[in-house]
Amino acid sequence: RIAGPSGLVIFGVTGDLSRKKLMPAVYDLANRGLLPPGFSLVGFARRDWEHEDFAQVVRDAVREHARTPFREEVWEQLAQGMRFVPGVFDDDEAFGTLKNTIEALDKERGTGGNFAFYLSVPPKFFPTVVQQLKKHGLSDAPEGSWRRAVVEKPFGHDLKSAQELNQVVYGVFRASQVFRIDHYLGKETVQNILALRFANTMFEPLWNRSYVDHVQITMAEDIGIGGRAGYYDGIGSARDVIQNHLLQLLALTAMEEPSSFDAKALVQEKLKVLNAVRLPDDLGLHTVRGQYTAGWQGGEKVPGYLDEEGINPQSKTDTYAAIKLEIDNRRWAGVPFYLRTGKRLGRRVTEIAVVFQRAPYSPFNATDTQELGQNALVIRVQPDEGVTIRFGSKVPGTSMEIRDVTMDFAYGESFTESSPEAYERLILDVLLGDANLFPRHQEVERSWEILDPVEEYWEAHGRPEPYVAGTWGPKAADEMLKRDGRSWRRP
Ligand code: BG6
Repeated sequence: RIAGPSGLVIFGVTGDLSRKKLMPAVYDLANRGLLPPGFSLVGFARRDWEHEDFAQVVRDAVREHARTPFREEVWEQLAQGMRFVPGVFDDDEAFGTLKNTIEALDKERGTGGNFAFYLSVPPKFFPTVVQQLKKHGLSDAPEGSWRRAVVEKPFGHDLKSAQELNQVVYGVFRASQVFRIDHYLGKETVQNILALRFANTMFEPLWNRSYVDHVQITMAEDIGIGGRAGYYDGIGSARDVIQNHLLQLLALTAMEEPSSFDAKALVQEKLKVLNAVRLPDDLGLHTVRGQYTAGWQGGEKVPGYLDEEGINPQSKTDTYAAIKLEIDNRRWAGVPFYLRTGKRLGRRVTEIAVVFQRAPYSPFNATDTQELGQNALVIRVQPDEGVTIRFGSKVPGTSMEIRDVTMDFAYGESFTESSPEAYERLILDVLLGDANLFPRHQEVERSWEILDPVEEYWEAHGRPEPYVAGTWGPKAADEMLKRDGRSWRRP
């Protein structure tokens, strides 16, 4: 899978995402030989830069963040195709320059008129950028070539704004031209959910309400909000990652087998299960939000959320969220899916734990099995990528004591191939026109429909519960599961 003649235009190229993820991903793709020789990268931003300044910024970003080793000859070839267009988004002249730049690259580098426009910009600029692309004839592909739009989250902040955003985008691009990034879908371990479930025979027979007690999906981060106050405050953890990443993980874990692995069949199944997702009636009992206070992390004292730079000291923004969901279908009826996420938690870990029911009857002595937990299959999404199965085993000795043990699959031990970074995979897919790993607008809108009542409930009821940085979140989250006779895993 090598991309054909093409180029990438990044709007908002001076931003954090571009520097840490997009530019390094482009270089890594080039280094792995997956980009065409004439590949071109155009940056657009409000900076007084020459092409050389831009190239230097990209070079620094690559040296700092790329996965693969720096090779001068790869860099040289890439740098020859780099251009910078200075301007603000409503500047017609700048878009005229962009158009000329693209046409010149077609001639000089053989990009064939094939360009993807990456909108790494705050949502308020979306309408202007897409309108400008249309006005200057950039969204329409010349005969025999393609134009695509890559859209970064947030895709709105509720159902209504997401619908408006989709309308704006579809006013200019056809659905098949639009690629929405959910970088979790670019992760190897997330794609492996499908392999694990549908390429094997031993898991799927158990993957239902007859055997599964509940599912826990955890995305814990040790970092705070860093320099992202402007984006994060008022948005919060549920909108930031539950609406997208965690609901996508839920969909992949719970959906039926798709008829094929093309984008259409996958979306159909994901959407079907998302449509069956239901919030419990009493949101006060089955959702929890928290906000971190000062604490210790990694041997360092860290400030509380309200003391972070740029945060409104009265802010009610959640930095932790836990939500119980039900799925109303034959496979999952009565099996809760618990989703939780938070900043400044004990450590960085994302995992999906499928927790099985206890044996209906135990022929063993109660004292011999008191340390036996529930069987579980844990998909370790990151950072320690792999799969763990937990089950009981006899403790060596003369009694029949049974205790939990684990069986592990670790990527690092089983494969010599290294995982590409999520953005590498996704950018390559955009250039190839492969839409499998990109959520469609129906999924985005359905996800907001699920989350909106929770946000409305929270808005109307008090404040998030404080939790000390470096711990595993507010007490209410433990109580929420305790009421159901369960507890959170300590990853
Ligand atoms: C982003 C969120 O989508 O995912 C961030 O906006 C979060 O708040 C990030 O830190 C986490 O990504 P990863 O790949 O490090 O789990």
